[in-house]
Amino acid sequence: MNIVLTGMMGAGKSEVARLLSSKLKMNFIDMDSHIERTTKRSINEIFEKLGEAEFRRIERNLVKCLAVTDNFVISTGGGVVLNKKNIEDFRKNGRIVYLKAAPEVLYERVRNDSNRPLLKVDDPLFEMKRIYKNRKKFYEDCDVIVDTAGKSPEAVCDEIISKIESFVATSAQEAKKLRGNERLKR
Ligand code: S3P
Repeated sequence: MNIVLTGMMGAGKSEVARLLSSKLKMNFIDMDSHIERTTKRSINEIFEKLGEAEFRRIERNLVKCLAVTDNFVISTGGGVVLNKKNIEDFRKNGRIVYLKAAPEVLYERVRNDSNRPLLKVDDPLFEMKRIYKNRKKFYEDCDVIVDTAGKSPEAVCDEIISKIESFVATSAQEAKKLRGNERLKR
């Protein structure tokens, strides 16, 4: 099973994913860093020189590869949820965890970071709020939600582990019940 972290820019996906992978002795991959390494371009450069559509195509191809792996904690880029197929693919062998925070909190975390091409606009806080509003429903289509505001990466990790444990236990119970129903029908 993989654990897939989603959420907006500034949600803390990379840091939490790295910590989670070491706690759970799983492999770790940060999708944006992987894309930067393989294309030998920064995310900014990809957006500027090749355009967002090309970035999404590269991102989509990487999702297809990762969806058939196992035992990975995957830190996604914030826009991965925009393509429904990405989440469908990740679901085949992954639990989807949404790291949530209010746009104001997210903005405070990334305001001094220049490697966020989507925030290179006149009013980045307004843009953050706009993106958040548009994507909320996509992020919420997940297995587990963890609110990150005011929590340390350690605390977020612990909450993810306990929520995934109960999610997996509930799914196992439901699967057992369904199998039981199946037998009764025969
Ligand atoms: C994006 C988020 C970024 C990166 C790219 C696009 C987005 O990743 O993939 O700039 O659409 O929200 P982070 O979420 O790691 O900042």
